[in-house]
Amino acid sequence: MLVRELWGFLRDSTPERRRQRYGDMEYDWEHRVNTTSGTVGWRERLLGIFHSPYQPTDAALFQEMMASLPIDFREFTFVDLGSGKGRTLLMASEYPFRRIVGVEILPELHRVAHQNIRDYRSPTQRCTRIESICADAREYTLPEEPLVLYLFNPLPTEGLGRVIENLERSVQQVPRVVYVIYHDPLLDEELRSRRWMQAVQRTGQFALYSNHISQRPVKVATGKASKMEDS
Ligand SMILES: C[S@@+](CC[C@H](N)C(=O)[O-])C[C@H]1O[C@@H](n2cnc3c(N)ncnc32)[C@H](O)[C@@H]1O
Repeated sequence: MLVRELWGFLRDSTPERRRQRYGDMEYDWEHRVNTTSGTVGWRERLLGIFHSPYQPTDAALFQEMMASLPIDFREFTFVDLGSGKGRTLLMASEYPFRRIVGVEILPELHRVAHQNIRDYRSPTQRCTRIESICADAREYTLPEEPLVLYLFNPLPTEGLGRVIENLERSVQQVPRVVYVIYHDPLLDEELRSRRWMQAVQRTGQFALYSNHISQRPVKVATGKASKMEDS
């Protein structure tokens, strides 16, 4: 397993692969920030093997995910667990969230996120209460507020399980509405198997869960609605 990961690291270090990682520069150019994975140093990329490699969320897809949320943004806090250089924090600030928090384990990525929050200028920005915290998502105590929890594959199965258990405990202690957006849901079974949450929507690119729905239909990628199973 480790050998395969190390091979991937070496392959991604070639000039050709580095050039490909600059392919996501458009957002940075437009907003004068640094969120591309192309400029992540070898140290952070190597550490990424042991956590999960940094890759920013695509801006158009982020808008699609936000549009799927049936909420009044002003009541919710947006939390990205594994926030990297903080692109989602900037993109979320275009919506009137109550506040926005990113949790990133690698100090260098957190430092860049902090700088990006300071540098970001947008005439359409709706939320300016944004912070990046350098911490392990598995240990992080979630804010006791209605939440939109954003996960873009920050953790392997065991770590993701811990995060979801922390969320369940937190909601039991302080009952409130939570939505979980799981982008690129490779380990979707970890969420699907929790009976206290239900799927609101699934597409090939993300899954949306909440504890707030009971018998609503799940929207699926085809655009047709399928009936929720009883829980
Ligand atoms: C695929 S990137 C997603 C970045 C960001 N959420 C986005 O969508 O633009 C995953 C991030 O999770 C971070 N990460 C991995 N394990 C973590 C942990 N235990 N706690 C906090 N962050 C972690 C990685 O360093 C990486 O920056």
